[in-house]
Amino acid sequence: MPYEHITVETRDNVGVITLNRPKALNALSGALMNEVAEAVDAFEGDDAIGASILTGGEKAFAAGADIKEMKDKVYMEAYREDFITAKWERIAHSRKPIIAAVAGYALGGGCELAMMCDFIIAADNAKFGQPEITIGIIPGAGGTQRLTRFVGKSKAMDMVLTGRMMEADEAERCGLVSRVVSPDRLMEEALTAAKRIADYERNTVMAAKEMVDRAYETTLAEGIRFERRMFQSLFGTPGQVEGMDAFADKRRPKFNRS
Ligand code: CAA
Repeated sequence: MPYEHITVETRDNVGVITLNRPKALNALSGALMNEVAEAVDAFEGDDAIGASILTGGEKAFAAGADIKEMKDKVYMEAYREDFITAKWERIAHSRKPIIAAVAGYALGGGCELAMMCDFIIAADNAKFGQPEITIGIIPGAGGTQRLTRFVGKSKAMDMVLTGRMMEADEAERCGLVSRVVSPDRLMEEALTAAKRIADYERNTVMAAKEMVDRAYETTLAEGIRFERRMFQSLFGTPGQVEGMDAFADKRRPKFNRS
């Protein structure tokens, strides 16, 4: 299906979704988010794809939810359509890993969308922020919750209450971002990471991702218990047998990529 607000491509076993409304700095309209959700669905259902990348443009990953589109909304309308939740959370619920490759502005919903991905690789010109307070609202796509878990209360309060932007090096220092590279190396770095993930045993990757996600939603004791069971359940699976045989045989493992 042709998309209007995003482009979608595959590179071997990696899917790439590029936000593509450059004139509006990739403002996240309803139509754009519907397309993102469809693209995630398609990659999720495609056995040939093991991991994906979500990226934007050089000037903006995304400058937030579309302010012009939402400015006249009233509560009952937002409630009825479950504004933000309906399609946006699709990324957070993907069972296959998604890497955010962020250059330029990642503000408001843009920062929140990046945080819904599994990790963020940033170009050194990236700027993160939750500036909703400057337009009379608060973050509505998880910013107050996910940002706090990433960077802690003090910095999250600073970002959410002042609306200031955070540069890539600060974002890396405080754990929002996993790596920072020059803008011209951003996609190469993200593609290499995604390919590396996609080449591992699919079920093992999904289990590892599920376990790290669980750390955000449970107590330490329950998380450890769940991890232990998941770890034990991988014994005797093709990935474990091949991975450990290959190690013992001093050869590269041939994992199941579908
Ligand atoms: N929604 C709609 N349009 C947007 C937009 C947004 N979030 N961000 C930028 N645009 C549009 C501008 O209106 C402008 O369009 P026109 O040319 O038609 O006027 C175009 O993109 C270029 O933007 P600027 O001229 O403003 O570019 P700049 O370089 O001067 O400034 C910027 C860049 C600092 C990012 C500025 O555009 C800006 O502050 N944008 C809004 C950021 C923001 O407040 N985001 C939060 C949105 S609310 C939200 O996301 C809620 C949530 O939690 C889900």
